Amino acid sequence: MANNTQILNLISMALLLLFVSNSEGHSAAEEEADRISALPGQPKVTFPQFSGYVTVNKVAGRALFYWLTESPNSPSSKPLVIWLNGGPGCSSVAYGASEEIGPFRINKSASGLYLNKFSWNNVANLLFLETPAGVGFSYTNRSSDLLDTGDRRTAMDSLEFLIRWLDRFPRYKNREVYITGESYAGHYVPQLARQIMVYNKKSKHPINLKGIMVGNAVTDNYYDNLGTVTYWWSHAMISDKTYQQLINTCDFRRQKESNECESLYSYAMDQEFGNIDQYNIYAPPCNNSDGSRFTRHSMRLPNRPHSVPIS
Ligand SMILES: *[C@@H]1O[C@H](CO)[C@@H](O)[C@H](O)[C@H]1NC(C)=O
Ligand SMILES: *[C@@H]1O[C@H](CO)[C@@H](O)[C@H](O)[C@H]1NC(C)=O
Ligand SMILES: *[C@@H]1O[C@H](CO)[C@@H](O)[C@H](O)[C@H]1NC(C)=O
Repeated sequence: MANNTQILNLISMALLLLFVSNSEGHSAAEEEADRISALPGQPKVTFPQFSGYVTVNKVAGRALFYWLTESPNSPSSKPLVIWLNGGPGCSSVAYGASEEIGPFRINKSASGLYLNKFSWNNVANLLFLETPAGVGFSYTNRSSDLLDTGDRRTAMDSLEFLIRWLDRFPRYKNREVYITGESYAGHYVPQLARQIMVYNKKSKHPINLKGIMVGNAVTDNYYDNLGTVTYWWSHAMISDKTYQQLINTCDFRRQKESNECESLYSYAMDQEFGNIDQYNIYAPPCNNSDGSRFTRHSMRLPNRPHSVPIS
């Protein structure tokens, strides 16, 4: 049994440890200020969550919003996975977190949340980042930023976010980082990865970037469009004849297609596809909330491979 002296020693050691860890006390308090105790209508969970703003440009007053959902099981041994929605202009909180890979889904009456058992935070610490400023909860105090925004600034601001976020969450420094996203993040993800690599070359504290991944990526008109119609054809969604006509008629490099090509797309989708969702061809198509059939015309996502994707 421990005597009083031993207990006192233990206490002073604990205090010393507290003091040592508090040499970074500023960030510990900052991190704590971002903690989410619970969201409205949220089921009980065992993982910690944080959210808040990180200023990426003081002069303009630009700040990016993030939401971190850590893993319920040994989070400190799991990587940091950053998720970016596309658009450009789509919110990572509204799409990625709430409809796709996050731990919570919003229920039918929009008055509560339920758990998504396929959430990626089962295997990683998931950080949803809203970028660029103007998207979702991210904002700027300089209105002109919203007019002259672009991919270069998006990548620079996202890097700045990551550097400052790691200062706020020092326990994530040196952690393996993966940058992931969908659709227009086909631009955001590799461009941010490149900025990180440039930063790492000159930094004493490099970011431990391990990998990138993009689903349904927008990268290049030619390969994206050719890939889409080839996918339709190789999955028996369109006939050999229509496929050949599309290949012979369309100039996949163009942003806007010729009328001949457009009508081939319409023919493929209206006459040949059948009632399937091209974004999830093996599942039955969803119905609208009023129970009516979900038609292609009411699809939230674009039908055409070359139109600007919205998520
Ligand atoms: C934006 O302006 C508001 C109001 O002055 C201020 O409270 C806020 O800190 C500013 N944001 C940034 C990122 O500087
Ligand atoms: C949604 O969640 C809230 C809060 O848990 C609950 O009161 C409500 O009944 C739920 N609605 C539906 C349609 O599940
Ligand atoms: C969609 O509606 C059809 C009838 O219109 C119905 O048979 C089917 O079960 C519904 N599917 C879903 C997922 O609700």
